[in-house]
Amino acid sequence: MTAQPTFTEQPLLEVRDFQVELITDAGIIRAVDSVSFSIHRGETVTIIGESGSGKSTTAMGILRLLPEDLAVLSGTVLIDGVDITADPKAIDKVRGKTLALIPQDPMTALSPVHSIGSQLFEAIRIAGAASAKDKGALQARAVRLLEQVHIPTPEKQLKKYPHQLSGGMLQRVLIAIALASEPQLLVADEPTSALDVTVQGGILDLLLELQEQRGIGILMITHDLGVARLISDRIHVMKDGSFVESGEVQQIVDHPATDYTRALLAAVPVLGPWDETPAAAPGRHAANATGSSATSDPALTQTGAKP
Ligand SMILES: Nc1ncnc2c1ncn2[C@@H]1O[C@H](COP(=O)(O)OP(=O)(O)OP(=O)(O)O)[C@@H](O)[C@H]1O
Ligand SMILES: [Mg+2]
Repeated sequence: MTAQPTFTEQPLLEVRDFQVELITDAGIIRAVDSVSFSIHRGETVTIIGESGSGKSTTAMGILRLLPEDLAVLSGTVLIDGVDITADPKAIDKVRGKTLALIPQDPMTALSPVHSIGSQLFEAIRIAGAASAKDKGALQARAVRLLEQVHIPTPEKQLKKYPHQLSGGMLQRVLIAIALASEPQLLVADEPTSALDVTVQGGILDLLLELQEQRGIGILMITHDLGVARLISDRIHVMKDGSFVESGEVQQIVDHPATDYTRALLAAVPVLGPWDETPAAAPGRHAANATGSSATSDPALTQTGAKP
C-alpha cells in the first residue's frame, strides 16, 4: 500500500513449495499443499479463503507454532533470509524479533489475571528494549507503544485488566505487544474478525498507518474479501490447502478467475444506497443501514475499495 517495494532487495518472507501435513486420529491431513509466495518491506499480502481452507495452518506453520510431533513441514520458508524450515531452532532468532504475531481473539490471547501494563512490560522485557529492573524505562516504553496504537490516556490503561477494556481497545493492546520488538513483519490471523464492524475499520487503518510509518510487511489472514481489498497489495485465494488464484487485489476483485473467488466476492457485505422500495427486483435485497445484506447483484457495487 505504501512506497513501491524495490524487488531487488531480499523479501522479508519467502515461502516456496510449503507443505504442512497434520497427523490426526483420522489419518494424515495435508492442510497446506505446496504454496509459494513472498512479502517485501511495506507490502501487505493476504491469504483469503473459506473456513478450513488452511489459512491459519499456513500462518502457524510459518511461525513454527504447530506442535512439532503432529505437524510435518516441508518446503522452504525464509524469514529475512533465515531458513526456518531447515533448522527448527532458527525460528528463535526471528520470532518475537523480526517477526511478530497479532492473534485473532484478544480475550483469549491476553491473561485475564494480569494487568495490561504487566503484559506489555513482559513483552518489552523479552524484546530486550528495557530491563525488568528499570521500571521507569518499562513504563515509558509501554506508554509510547500504547500511544502508537492510539489508546487514549495510556498511563491509566496500563493499570487496567483485560475485562475492563473494549474488544477494539484490547486488539490495539495486542498490536502494541506485537510492536514491542519493532518487528519488520507482522502476521495477522483474522485480526478484526472478533470485532464489531464499526471497530474493524479503525484497526485496519492503524495497521496501514504503522506500515506507512515503519515499512512493515504484513501477512494478513482473512475470510473476508472486503477486508482483503481494503488493505492488500496482493492476495492469494486458498481452497483445500492450495492457492487457486493469486494476483493484485483489484485484478482479482474485477476479474475473478474461479467460481470459488466469485462466491467469496458475493459474500462481501455491501453498503449500497438506502432502498425504500418495498418490493425490489426478485433476488435483490435492499442494502440495510448496517451494510450486512450480502448480495451478488452487480448493481450494488462495493464501497471502500482500495484506490
Ligand atoms: N488440530 C487439528 N486437528 C485436526 N485437523 C486440523 C487441526 N487444525 C486444523 N485442522 C484441519 O486442517 C485444515 C485447515 O485448517 P485451518 O485451521 O488452517 O483453516 P482456516 O482456513 O484457518 O479456517 P478458519 O477460517 O475457520 O480459521 C482443516 O481441514 C482442518 O480441519
Ligand atoms: Mg483460521
